[in-house]
Amino acid sequence: MRSDVHPAAAVGFDRAADAYEAGRATYPAPAVEAILSFAGAAPGRTLLELGAGTGKLTGALVASGARVLALEPVAGMRDVLARKVPGAEVLDAVAEAVPVARASVDAVVAAQSFHWFDAEDATAEVARVLRPGGAVALIWNRRDESVDWMRDLTRILDAHAGEAPRYRTGHWRRSFDADAAFTPLELQTWPHRGATGRDVVRARVASMSFVAALDTEPREHLLAEIAALLDTHPATRGRDDVAIPYVTELFTTRRVESAGAPSPRGPGPPAHRL
Ligand SMILES: C[S@@+](CC[C@H](N)C(=O)[O-])C[C@H]1O[C@@H](n2cnc3c(N)ncnc32)[C@H](O)[C@@H]1O
Repeated sequence: MRSDVHPAAAVGFDRAADAYEAGRATYPAPAVEAILSFAGAAPGRTLLELGAGTGKLTGALVASGARVLALEPVAGMRDVLARKVPGAEVLDAVAEAVPVARASVDAVVAAQSFHWFDAEDATAEVARVLRPGGAVALIWNRRDESVDWMRDLTRILDAHAGEAPRYRTGHWRRSFDADAAFTPLELQTWPHRGATGRDVVRARVASMSFVAALDTEPREHLLAEIAALLDTHPATRGRDDVAIPYVTELFTTRRVESAGAPSPRGPGPPAHRL
């Protein structure tokens, strides 16, 4: 069972917490509502958020009145999270080894994060910690590449991405698809836009873990390439009201199997206050 984070996440997200807050979009209100409703988020319920980052979704989970365990292994992100969402119980741990007891949470949520995990180990942990019938909600803001300048931006990024896990490969979902403990994943989508401004677009790019993990010179070179794209592309040149177009994708599933059977991957790590 993995107990560390991918090196690009460990270095990149630790350096990029401030850019992350400035550049990353929140999630559209109807998508957040759909998560809260599917998870049955309310007082008396316990939600586990995996890879909570700086808390872009966590605040809404806490506002529901539910108990929220917000798991985040990278110190730079966790510091912002703990400051920004004091109502969450922050756990320093990885999704592949969740320090909570078997069948002890009502819902597991992951925002923009599940592709970072070892999918098999993390899915087994989700199955272990969820109560029977428990909810799983996985959400991403995907850059909308039906928009021309987004495709150009992605081409620039792809030249530097290396081996960092990417959501769009779909590798993250294989273990859910293969696991009879879960109902088939269902997808809902919403169009969405990030906040407006060239500085927001710059921070969005700078917040990507593999960008933040670059040395100063190649990072500044990449950010200059993005600035040049904004300066020259017909859709963005001369405008300061640029905003990244997204498609928000929400996948949901439920735990169907009896949670009484021991996990094939062992008993899991020591339980955390549960
Ligand atoms: C793209 S950020 C998403 C943060 C936040 N959920 C949001 O919606 O903005 C991905 C987060 O997953 C965390 N992460 C990476 N690997 C992880 C792992 N193995 N277990 C738990 N979290 C992990 C990173 O540290 C980072 O904070």
